[in-house]
Amino acid sequence: MPDLIAPDLPAAFFPPTTPAVFTRADFGPDFRWGVSAAAYQTEGAWNLHGKGPSIWDEFVQRPGRIRRGETAQVGTDFYHRWPQDLDLLHQMGIPDFRFSVAWSRVLPQGTGAVNAAGLDFYDRLVDGCLARGITPWVTLYHWDLPAALQRRGGWANRDVVGWFTDYAQRVAARLGDRVQHWMVLNEPMVFVGAGQLLGLHAPGRRSLGGFLASVHHAALTQAEGGRALRAVLPAAARIGTTFSCSYLTPWRPALPRDVRATRRADALLNRLFVEPALGLGYPVAELPLLRWLDRYIRPGDETRLPFAFDFLGVQNYTREVVRYSPYVPLAWASLVGAKQRGVPHTQMGWEVYPESLYHMLRQFAAYPNAPELIVTENGAAFADTCSPDGRIRDPARQAYLRAAIGQVLRARRAGVPVTGYFAWSFTDNFEWAEGYEPRFGLVGIDFDSQERIVKDSGRWYQQFLGVAPPAT
Ligand code: NOJ
Repeated sequence: MPDLIAPDLPAAFFPPTTPAVFTRADFGPDFRWGVSAAAYQTEGAWNLHGKGPSIWDEFVQRPGRIRRGETAQVGTDFYHRWPQDLDLLHQMGIPDFRFSVAWSRVLPQGTGAVNAAGLDFYDRLVDGCLARGITPWVTLYHWDLPAALQRRGGWANRDVVGWFTDYAQRVAARLGDRVQHWMVLNEPMVFVGAGQLLGLHAPGRRSLGGFLASVHHAALTQAEGGRALRAVLPAAARIGTTFSCSYLTPWRPALPRDVRATRRADALLNRLFVEPALGLGYPVAELPLLRWLDRYIRPGDETRLPFAFDFLGVQNYTREVVRYSPYVPLAWASLVGAKQRGVPHTQMGWEVYPESLYHMLRQFAAYPNAPELIVTENGAAFADTCSPDGRIRDPARQAYLRAAIGQVLRARRAGVPVTGYFAWSFTDNFEWAEGYEPRFGLVGIDFDSQERIVKDSGRWYQQFLGVAPPAT
């Protein structure tokens, strides 16, 4: 299968900085290769076998919140189909699999009694990975807070730190003898920003006070969660946490106010959670409104915010272009979308800009005490169709993936300690407020029949990893 099967794609897919020719071997034998997924987006079985509702189970029921009123009550039916899905992963030669644990499947009320059937599910899933030679990577929080905890204030209640560490230790106590790789939170800036300030994600709040309280509690939770895991896991465990990030450039580079707005947006979108974890505090100098966090910071918190993570998960999809705006009070900046700029973009409206990943890896690696970096998510949503011959030809996703992986190699060659790459996502799935329309999978799903078809991009990844795809 040739690397570039669609030379007619726009130039954005082929940045000249991507190494012209490269193979898996260029990354060295220890580099980790995988695909990522998340519980709410895939599992379904939202109320089976003792699972309690999460904020997402409730949010999707609210009219007008999700495109076309879709829900993930069934999702990709991963809860039932995981053995076949793991078989497929194995056939594709994908060595590492990142998935998340649904808190309310394990603790239906968020705290208190464990639902044995819930913990058993993850136990079987881990064993299923290991039996197939797949390394499991477990994320403890991928946005599905137990609804019972939302009724007690959720992320805006400081007690969330203790609720989470208790939950994390119970999962670790059960799976820690077999799972070596752990992630505490998935993209805190997204679940706090979209959930508490913009109202676009569960729990659908729009409150500056709730946002700021949640920022601080999530930052505390990420570090305390790391410590709680360290306390119960074997010494060989690798503990990380993940961050969303986008390379930001000013709309008008010669205009100082656009440049300043870009710096503020960088503090908000790229630095807010990683810097306290690294012991650098919140980026208050660039974003003075963060002084309001003082209302939620208690004596001693400064020493609790840092944690010596073994790795940072870098999750990048696009770049953003920033313009000064007096109408956007939080960061005095607005993002000039790709559609408005007339540049190639994905189904999410995100600019196709694979070099963003290189720049963000450089930015994270520039922290003086940066640990290893792992790209725990990267990918692109494009509409695809299944041809009469049963193939899903998705040259745009294939080209994007190749370019992004090439940019990881470029970063490695520049000395960045990046040691792994996980594509988002293994299969098509439920893309939050956007429902099922955006297709991120390397494997396509027909959501009527739940049939899985490995897309050409998946076949390309498989071949890249060294396993010949089946002849067609
Ligand atoms: C990041 C999130 O972690 C994931 O859940 C989401 O589907 C992808 N980005 C794509 O938006």
